[in-house]
Amino acid sequence: MTAETLPFEFFFSPEFSTDPYAIYADLRAKGPVHAIDFPPGASSYVIVDYEHGRAALNDPRLSKSLASGPDWFREMMLKNDAVLADNMLMTDPPDHTRLRKVISKAFTPRRVEELRPRVEQITAELVDAMAEKGEADLIADFAFPLPIIVICELLGIPAEDRDLFRDWSGALLVPALDEEAVAVRERASLALRDYFGALIAERRATPTDDLVGVLVASPEMNEKELLSTLVLLMIAGHETTVNLIGNGTLALLRNPDQLELLKKRPELMQSAVEEFLRYDAPVERATFRVALEDLEIGGTLIPQGSFVNVSIGAAGRDPQAFDGPERLDITRSDNRHVAFGHGIHFCLGAPLARMEGQIAFTTLLERLPGIELACDVKELSWRFSGAIVRSLSALPVRF
Ligand code: HEM
Repeated sequence: MTAETLPFEFFFSPEFSTDPYAIYADLRAKGPVHAIDFPPGASSYVIVDYEHGRAALNDPRLSKSLASGPDWFREMMLKNDAVLADNMLMTDPPDHTRLRKVISKAFTPRRVEELRPRVEQITAELVDAMAEKGEADLIADFAFPLPIIVICELLGIPAEDRDLFRDWSGALLVPALDEEAVAVRERASLALRDYFGALIAERRATPTDDLVGVLVASPEMNEKELLSTLVLLMIAGHETTVNLIGNGTLALLRNPDQLELLKKRPELMQSAVEEFLRYDAPVERATFRVALEDLEIGGTLIPQGSFVNVSIGAAGRDPQAFDGPERLDITRSDNRHVAFGHGIHFCLGAPLARMEGQIAFTTLLERLPGIELACDVKELSWRFSGAIVRSLSALPVRF
């Protein structure tokens, strides 16, 4: 345990964006749990090892409900992010159990598997369009459009509305630290509410069998929960997978031996994708948790009402849990990463994300075997400084 509290700027420094893992390694050497002034002024802690991080993700003493947070937090969230407040990721059992059950029924592995040919087709079209140009920004031209097209088709959102979501969901990922960010979030929140409100009304008038249609017909969710669930699926459905593709491609391009190995042995694709998830986790930190009682984690006393941040990225680089964690090893077996979380909030979209990732990397390497970075690694920058996702702004490549 360290006595000093990390400043809130900790998550926001350029050094952290460039290489959070070196910073986490230094912290982990001092102890698994550290006090941090983030959100500013709140009693808050960050967990940087695997053992305690994984346990915290499924600890019933850590609540995911807004109702458990301090008053100012609840009020801020309800004002800025009302559309996010009533979904399964913001609730504890029994509400969580009920909401998750409704979606699990509609979002079955079979439904995901049925999407495979369409995901392959979209991927091939995007890669072919890049190939013609000889160079591309892998984020804008591939990593972003692929998951957003897929989630829109799954939900049943008209193709022409896709681009609206990039701005709206991006806005909700920017930490609400100043008035401008708060205003941007509020606008996006209202726009999403209006958009999905109209879509729900449309589906009530004319039932469909896409995911929105199925959820609208479900009697187990009230109107607010339905709307919030659709927003969650939309955001979680693409702001995460884009980073699996972006961060995974960067990891391969920086490790040419692993890139060559994967080209030679495509049967390693499954373990390669798991390794990308561990090595540079798309979701750097789990969503907020609040201590329901005074508790002790890894020798640190965490008072009731405190926020607990679990660093999924740091957990994936813990040498106690992974052999040579700084090494990208696409043959790694026994890869028990927590990139999709752990316990009752384990990612509901994991089968879809894995399928999209495997198809994306297979197609990329088959059709663009000469892919290489078209800039110096030092020139790369990361979107959303301080946010919970780890997301490249752009990834210039040539083939
Ligand atoms: C590589 C891609 C993805 C990653 C790394 C990822 C990661 C995560 C993580 C870490 C959590 C748990 C957060 C916490 O406990 O605080 C989570 C939950 C969730 N994810 Fe994903 N996700 C991905 C893709 C998706 C997709 C494609 C969808 C939907 C289409 C999705 C839907 C959800 C939902 C609904 C939850 C909430 C589950 C619950 O609260 O019970 N995710 N995800």
